[in-house]
Amino acid sequence: MPDRTRPLHVACIMDGNGRWAGRRGLPRTDGHTEGEENLARLVRVAVRRDIGHLTVFGFSTENWRRPRPEVRHILGLHEKLFGRVAELNELDVRIQWIGRPFDSPEAKTPRYVQRAIGKAIADTASNTGMVLTVAFDYGGRSELVAATEKARRSSGGVTPEAISANLYLPDLPPVDVLVRTSGEHRVSNFLLWQAAGAAIYFTDAPWPDFDGDELDRALELVG
Ligand code: IPE
Ligand code: IPE
Ligand code: MG
Repeated sequence: MPDRTRPLHVACIMDGNGRWAGRRGLPRTDGHTEGEENLARLVRVAVRRDIGHLTVFGFSTENWRRPRPEVRHILGLHEKLFGRVAELNELDVRIQWIGRPFDSPEAKTPRYVQRAIGKAIADTASNTGMVLTVAFDYGGRSELVAATEKARRSSGGVTPEAISANLYLPDLPPVDVLVRTSGEHRVSNFLLWQAAGAAIYFTDAPWPDFDGDELDRALELVG
């Protein structure tokens, strides 16, 4: 059973932007643009539902293999998302980022996105309401390899506690509900450690259509 003494943690694999666009005869990039707008809408709804943590998968370590123009468009949308500081402050939302450290050898995040992330984190740091965590250049396996490596070098060795303490964001609570949109009944490489025991809500709705009613259906799984 979920621990209802702490605020709920909802994590979303925001899938199906391309299909949303395809069905309308639009380019995939329009689907990503609409997906980012929908996230901004959903943050407002999640705040009203008193959710403690909303964590979203924005870009995976595997997504760099997509065509260059699509990747560039998605990077620009993350700059836009992390630039929504006024909205986040109005909602008392604190933004975080989870992903491969910028100084790791495999990291490819351009400087302008790094700067947007750093600025948004700093400019919302004193907010005390919902925490929005955006996974960008994130992979659950990379995170676990890095955490295990650090745990191995620690005095107590590799234990569940040591791995938890060495995750990218050790304070991120366990996931209560994991959402995957667009009819994919797969977990993906997302929060593999943190989502142990989570309820899973699969929906056919593509991410741009994931609205408050959808969120409520996901929350019913832990209500
Ligand atoms: C999710 O939508 C967004 C990212 C992975 C960045 P997709 O781009 O995967 O959309 P589909 O799955 O092709 O419809
Ligand atoms: C999952 O979507 C990753 C994100 C939502 C960022 P993908 O479309 O990249 O995932 P797969 O490849 O279908 O699992
Ligand atoms: Mg997809």
